[in-house]
Amino acid sequence: MRRMVWTAACRMGFEEIDSQHRLLFAISNELLEISNPKSQEPEIKYLLRHLRDYVEKHFSYEEKFMEEKKFPGLSDHKQKHQKIVAEINNALTGSASMSALKESLETLLDGWVQSHILVEDKKYADWAKFHKIID
Ligand SMILES: [Fe+2]
Repeated sequence: MRRMVWTAACRMGFEEIDSQHRLLFAISNELLEISNPKSQEPEIKYLLRHLRDYVEKHFSYEEKFMEEKKFPGLSDHKQKHQKIVAEINNALTGSASMSALKESLETLLDGWVQSHILVEDKKYADWAKFHKIID
């Protein structure tokens, strides 16, 4: 099972946001490690709910942070956040079997966590570096 590996490329340079992102990787990896989805439905549901709740908390922290710094891409970024939360909720309430859901989790988690950090959050980090908000 492919784990999500935290690398230097995932660092945004803001300590609190980086540590929240690392926790998202950890929750995602727990989901990826589920080996028997049929008998582990309660764990999958629990972890997905935990991921959804933590993602919401993290997104509101990140949005407030970007707002304070007057990041011009904030409204676009907020929409991406809303889409991710809706997709997690769909996975939680959808009718897919646990095996099918587990099968799709590698792709879903990659989009929700890894790609979002590497592509979307990076846009903010690059903007912040350019404007010397961080060095
Ligand atoms: Fe984000």
